[in-house]
Amino acid sequence: MSEPVDWTSAGAPRSARFDDRYHSEAGALAQARHVFLGGCGLPGAWAGKAQWRILETGFGLGLNFLAAWAAWRADPARPGLLHFVSVEAYPVAAADLLRAARDEPDLAPLAQQLAAQWQGLLPGLHRLAFDGGRVLLTLCVGPVQPMLRAQRFAADSLYLDGFSPQRNPDMWSPETLRTLARFARRGTRLATWTIARAVRDALASQGFVLEKAPGLPPKRDCLRGVFAPAWEPRRHEPWPGEAVAVPGDCAVIGAGLAGAAVAASLALRLSLIHI
Ligand SMILES: C[S@@+](CC[C@H](N)C(=O)[O-])C[C@H]1O[C@@H](n2cnc3c(N)ncnc32)[C@H](O)[C@@H]1O
Repeated sequence: MSEPVDWTSAGAPRSARFDDRYHSEAGALAQARHVFLGGCGLPGAWAGKAQWRILETGFGLGLNFLAAWAAWRADPARPGLLHFVSVEAYPVAAADLLRAARDEPDLAPLAQQLAAQWQGLLPGLHRLAFDGGRVLLTLCVGPVQPMLRAQRFAADSLYLDGFSPQRNPDMWSPETLRTLARFARRGTRLATWTIARAVRDALASQGFVLEKAPGLPPKRDCLRGVFAPAWEPRRHEPWPGEAVAVPGDCAVIGAGLAGAAVAASLALRLSLIHI
């Protein structure tokens, strides 16, 4: 069953499970743009890149994803491929995704496309593709720790968007933040709306250099960071995606449905990242 969303009389989405609101009082799109896109230096940071990967904790109503997709669409210097990976334990109903975006003309048509693919979200990984496969959404449905531990790739931007650390400690625990840091490459930027001391300390201990930035009123601050550890992080082999500048050859063995799908997907990926 989908996670119920409580809509206040003012039209703000709230979670009864966490007794918290899904977005800043200043509005979801403003938060997505100021705190998250702005906090990670986007869209400027992705200009001219072959691909860009954003990893988010907390998909919620999908507004951060929709805002990133809209920014990608509007940017003539966009990367060939935008891959947004997000972890969500309690997916909401498609109707709530649509309702959350309906007053945002930039996002509402994209929300329609998202809602059309929003089905069968059982625990596990789900790949949704938009704009001819140039925008990929990997939804990791399940609790944050095991979902992050099940994957390994280099993220270019990290969005930390759980509910408040007091009400939703799993999303901000030192263990979760340590697991998240495994996805950072040198230079990966992170953004979040909380400046909680425990969160800052845990991120700093993982090698993020942090700064407080002006928040979205009524919040005074938000947090930005860059992965720049004073030590050389241990990586035993290249991360998937790191060797993208020099793609290798692939042989797909087996020409059944699965093999054909893999070959088509690899060919599409190769053509996109060389645009
Ligand atoms: C503030 S909302 C995210 C808003 C979202 N980024 C957006 O753009 O609409 C936080 C989300 O984290 C999810 N969440 C909370 N605890 C979680 C956990 N332990 N594992 C995975 N997801 C969790 C909640 O279900 C909720 O959807």
